[in-house]
Amino acid sequence: MKRILIVGSTGQIGSELSTRLRSIYGASNVICGYYTPPYPDGFFEAGPTMEINALHIEQIAEAVSRQGVDTIYNLVAILSATAEKHPKLGWDVGTGSLMNCLDVAREYGCAVFTPSSIGAFGPDTPKDDTPQDTIQRPNTIYGITKVLGELVSDYYFHRWGVDTRSVRFPGIISSVTPPGGGTTDYAVDIFYKAVLGEEFVCPIAAGTFMDMMYMPDALDAAIAIMEADPARLVHRNSFNVASMSFDPEMICAEIRKHIPDFRMRYEVDPLKQHIADSWPNRLDDSCARDEWGWQPSFDIARTTADMIGKLKVKLG
Ligand code: SER
Repeated sequence: MKRILIVGSTGQIGSELSTRLRSIYGASNVICGYYTPPYPDGFFEAGPTMEINALHIEQIAEAVSRQGVDTIYNLVAILSATAEKHPKLGWDVGTGSLMNCLDVAREYGCAVFTPSSIGAFGPDTPKDDTPQDTIQRPNTIYGITKVLGELVSDYYFHRWGVDTRSVRFPGIISSVTPPGGGTTDYAVDIFYKAVLGEEFVCPIAAGTFMDMMYMPDALDAAIAIMEADPARLVHRNSFNVASMSFDPEMICAEIRKHIPDFRMRYEVDPLKQHIADSWPNRLDDSCARDEWGWQPSFDIARTTADMIGKLKVKLG
């Protein structure tokens, strides 16, 4: 049985990971740290919550000691495009939350999951079948904090035995809580527009491929890596995981199979395009498959059908 603290539990991933973790480990064993509104529907009724500013280490330490926490999911981040507009904020939040979680974990003997990202790669990284171990010279502040996170998490493991593990998430597609300020967000926004019957103005150019993943697979990855047999792990921070790669034309065509009159036009955002151009087209995730049995369930067709079904209900 685990006692889990989620720091940053109200965001795109946290709002769904908390529900999944509570269904596995019991509602009372998952403590949701919150700071920034809006809060998901029923957030304060679903299980224990604590106000935690991830930049205040004493608040994390108090939650861990008072609640007897043994596993921390640190989901606090400023996503790539916002971080480019506010680099100091991106750096402070990305590195501050990470170091605070690691130091508390070291003191109280917790395991730590901090997601890395396709953003941990840069323009010099091989773009196709990007290997697990390869060149990582990102040119965004978000990516730099993610590489730092990978390195320092491995450092805490090797130096002090802190059980740190992580995956490099692609763009995550989901219907519960929208992401904000990411380069891959277009792949979520496009579904909202399609279901609302509105035209989608795409900020990413045709022909720009990025890895994407549907939320249920992302949750599986975040839980499976923390449950993995440590004896089998050659890597720790952080594993490539992949399930689909597409460009705007492909996802638009897939949506049109369900909503034939869906309209999309391009107004490329130079900042987001610059970031997208620096990221891989598709990761090779064979190490995750070999070392802990990673296996996604949702391809582009299944994701599209499920997203449209869920958003039709949500948006009435
Ligand atoms: N979804 C993130 C972003 O676009 C990448 O991890 O910033």
